[in-house]
Amino acid sequence: MALLPILRFPDPRLRKVAAPITNIDDSIRRLAADMAETMYEAPGIGLAATQVDVHKQLIVIDVSEAKDQLLVLINPEIVSNEGAQVGEEGCLSVPGVYDKVERAERVLVRYLDLDGKAQQREADGLLAVCIQHEMDHLNGKVFVDHLSLLKQTRIKSKLAKQARITA
Ligand code: NI
Repeated sequence: MALLPILRFPDPRLRKVAAPITNIDDSIRRLAADMAETMYEAPGIGLAATQVDVHKQLIVIDVSEAKDQLLVLINPEIVSNEGAQVGEEGCLSVPGVYDKVERAERVLVRYLDLDGKAQQREADGLLAVCIQHEMDHLNGKVFVDHLSLLKQTRIKSKLAKQARITA
């Protein structure tokens, strides 16, 4: 396994739209394992392939406290959603920035697992937020897109400053 470099907002590669995965082979299983390791190491609760510059529909998530409930979602699709919740979000691609975003309270998501089996899962609360946040990444969206333009501009200049300091 290997740690993968994570793209940072506003990197234009975060805007690429991920393609569906047609063949779940060893390279996909390795990608999922590497992404999980990268997410746990960060540490974070979710990571989309887009964030490691692989433009395929693959997400890893673990919102459990013990970090022992890894979820790998391939070609995820939201079948239905209901309600609304507002929570504070952050993102490994937007380090140090947290803000409130409105999401559906409950989602029903359909996806393939690492064995290529079709799965369906109902999620609410934090898991529902995380699924929606990571699926945004696959569509080339970042959570700051949900914020006001003024906030987006502030975040860009804050991150540009950080990049200059760490470079
Ligand atoms: Ni994110």
